[in-house]
Amino acid sequence: MEQKSIILRLSYADHFNELDGPDQALLNNAINAASRAYAPYSGFKVGAAVQLANGKVVTGNNQENAAYPSGLCAERVAVFAAMSEFPDQKIEAIAVTIQTPGGEIADPVSPCGACRQVLMEYENLQQKNIRVIFTGETGKAIVVESVSDLLPLSFTAGNLKYHP
Ligand code: THU
Repeated sequence: MEQKSIILRLSYADHFNELDGPDQALLNNAINAASRAYAPYSGFKVGAAVQLANGKVVTGNNQENAAYPSGLCAERVAVFAAMSEFPDQKIEAIAVTIQTPGGEIADPVSPCGACRQVLMEYENLQQKNIRVIFTGETGKAIVVESVSDLLPLSFTAGNLKYHP
């Protein structure tokens, strides 16, 4: 059998103030969105901010529910809101962050698998990379230039044989 390797490119920052100005501004939107999250069950507030090519920023946060699986992650709330309001716009970047009662989580919050799949859909659709910026609560940040760096070998429309 032939062996292959996949290279994933990630940038690490000890503090998000090392990021480019526009990325820091987007992250500030995500921080504000996290403070508005509805997360009474987990206490884990997540905020996301989507930067669109037309300059608009659309935010979202996790929305939990007493019927747990009915809730939705911050990333999907933000991306679906952005794409429902601006369906023809390209997504340039998404910033994601968290707030917990202790405020001590250092590891950047890594978007869950379902959110990566959703982001991948739009990256494929727009044929342009989406930068993903994610942070913890103490400043550490990770940046990837493409969703495909978070979701290699993803399932896409091309895998659906009947897709037009
Ligand atoms: N959550 C997000 O909003 N985004 C993620 O990427 C991971 C998890 C939410 C879902 C749930 O409301 C809470 O965080 C705990 O899992």
